[in-house]
Amino acid sequence: MTDSQFSQFSHSGNFRPATGAVWHAAWQSPSNIALVKYWGKNEGQLPINPSLSMTLSQAVTKTRLDAFVDGAVHGLVSVNGDPHHPFIPKMQRLLDLLAGDIPMLVKLAIMAETENTFPHSTGIASSASGISAFALCLLDLANQMVIPEISLRDWTRMVSCAARLGSGSACRSVYGGFTVWGRSLLVAGSSDEYAVDVNADVNPGMLSLRDAILIVSSEQKEVASTLGHRSMDRHPFRQGRVIQANSNLEEALRALAANDFNKLGDIAENEALSLHALLMSANPGVILLKPATLEIITRVRAKRKSGLPLFFTLDAGANVHLLYPHEAAFAVESFILEELAACCEGGRVIYDHCGTGPVRFPGRNENQAG
Ligand code: PMV
Repeated sequence: MTDSQFSQFSHSGNFRPATGAVWHAAWQSPSNIALVKYWGKNEGQLPINPSLSMTLSQAVTKTRLDAFVDGAVHGLVSVNGDPHHPFIPKMQRLLDLLAGDIPMLVKLAIMAETENTFPHSTGIASSASGISAFALCLLDLANQMVIPEISLRDWTRMVSCAARLGSGSACRSVYGGFTVWGRSLLVAGSSDEYAVDVNADVNPGMLSLRDAILIVSSEQKEVASTLGHRSMDRHPFRQGRVIQANSNLEEALRALAANDFNKLGDIAENEALSLHALLMSANPGVILLKPATLEIITRVRAKRKSGLPLFFTLDAGANVHLLYPHEAAFAVESFILEELAACCEGGRVIYDHCGTGPVRFPGRNENQAG
């Protein structure tokens, strides 16, 4: 990878750490839910259309890295003490992709401890939170070693760029509130290489939006999204999809600025159904919706007619995200308990809301110093 985003670290190959030197970095990073979906990519994990997401608060990954220099060992040595942990290939892949631009990372042996606050096997992909937490820790280590002259804004963009290489949607998790990834004339500073936050143009009322995640199926969705992105390469509706996403982004940004929840909800539903329509009309077609997903959607739409402000969105899976304003929480959550929880696997619902973004924890050295 030759990405100018990392130029601050490109001379770090000259960095000669002493054997036995140790660094620590620890970050908590959230998941996010896309309101305008990223679906389809070009070479280099660059999106074919801009996407818009809301960062979550409760669904987070906490990761801590201990990095040391031991001439003989390089790379990710273990995750949670296990040298064969199933997360290692994906994390090591990101480390390898970054090594060309941040050469000092190659000199490190890294042990990671990581945990998700959301339960395993709920079907909520952990890659956005997990990969963004890992990218934050890696760039934090790089910072500690080289101390670049860089603003927090540029550093965060660099982290977003790194996270994107590991998992596209992860690049949106490095900010709180609402985030856009992908170049759009509507968003100053936007880029295909990293996400930017658009909170300055969001009505504060939108920052308390709720998201209840209805677990219809706990099957993992990662394979579906990898195959799905690929299926867009030759999809007959590709061109139309790019036009649709750009137009939905424009309307969604307007709705966020105007605190127009109904408009935003309309777009979220249109995007969710379009995503699954694209999956179904790909070749081969993929059906990820389950009967319970459709049952929930039908009930949500019927309930909305009676005046309850709630809308749904979907990821590449069967689970349903319900979006509603914080003022309607009591009424919506009663409806979920009384009518929708029965459609969920084991009655499982995860209540989340718009969050404030990643949090850094003091490294071990800083703790000792304090
Ligand atoms: O980041 P990936 O490769 O898991 O793709 C995410 C795709 C969707 O979740 C379906 C949409 C999105 O923008 O998050």
